[in-house]
Amino acid sequence: MFPYSKVRERIVRNLPYSPSAFTGISSLEVMGLPQISYVDHCFTTTPDPTPEDEESIAWTAMSAYTGGSDTTIAAIKTAFHAASLHLEAQALAQSELDQIVGQERMPEMNDRPNLPYVTAFVNECMRLIPVVPIAIPRRAMEDETIGEYFIPKGSVVCNFNMLRDPDIYESPLSFDPARFLPETGTPTHPDIKGRSGLAIGSLSYGFSRRICPDMHLADSGVWLYVSTLLWAFQVSMVDDDGSIVKDKAAKWESVQFSSGAIQYPLPFKVKLVSRSSAVENLLRNA
Ligand code: HEM
Repeated sequence: MFPYSKVRERIVRNLPYSPSAFTGISSLEVMGLPQISYVDHCFTTTPDPTPEDEESIAWTAMSAYTGGSDTTIAAIKTAFHAASLHLEAQALAQSELDQIVGQERMPEMNDRPNLPYVTAFVNECMRLIPVVPIAIPRRAMEDETIGEYFIPKGSVVCNFNMLRDPDIYESPLSFDPARFLPETGTPTHPDIKGRSGLAIGSLSYGFSRRICPDMHLADSGVWLYVSTLLWAFQVSMVDDDGSIVKDKAAKWESVQFSSGAIQYPLPFKVKLVSRSSAVENLLRNA
């Protein structure tokens, strides 16, 4: 069980002495980044915070940090891994990016509606290797029937097998972004109602009242990172001696994933080659 009460105690105990500890300003300064942070913003816009305000600021900052950091990085690692082993999918995404974005500017969120394959690539990463594979497991306290499903008392309900259900996702263990293209595949899981407007297309963000509250932020962040990665670089997996991995299938079998609450591929080597000098110039001057 995560020691929330201990964390809460420490946060609240420390707040009166060093609110700046929450701003991260000094580390941002060192990195030469703008000195803005969520907590800093909250303290600036609430000049006379009550203890309750301070507690809310601390808690919301902590939940965004703990909920958002490892998860987003895990999704990005999976995308590196998928791109490096599925060169055809990588090439299709790049061809779409070249057509819509070109190489004179970087991809932007506004491009997303015009980049269905790139979005499908992200969705397929989230489906095949869900970041939080058992979400936060829930146990049925009583026998329950929901639609056509009977859920016996005591069952633990989680999303992992749903994302690999062969009745819904053909060849569920294959990496195939096209399954998420509206014209060729299943744009979303049929059991999910009301999410069709989202480009998430999977169950990776949980369900119902405890669904990830920041899924839109996460989804946009991961999408922008992955589209920029594929726009900028040719991504290849390399062996220890630096040679490009040829036998992708064998490598896929041998890839190890973390086994904790958050799932990501364990360290592997990739080679990044910028896709053109125009791209390289843009990146260097970004
Ligand atoms: C790829 C990125 C992410 C994935 C896959 C993800 C997935 C999830 C999942 C599966 C849950 C549990 C839902 C449940 O209990 O059934 C969750 C909860 C949560 N997530 Fe995310 N998340 C991501 C990014 C983020 C980000 C960026 C933030 C904040 C900035 C965040 C904040 C939270 C919080 C606060 C909760 C707890 C919600 C609650 O218990 O009511 N997550 N997330």
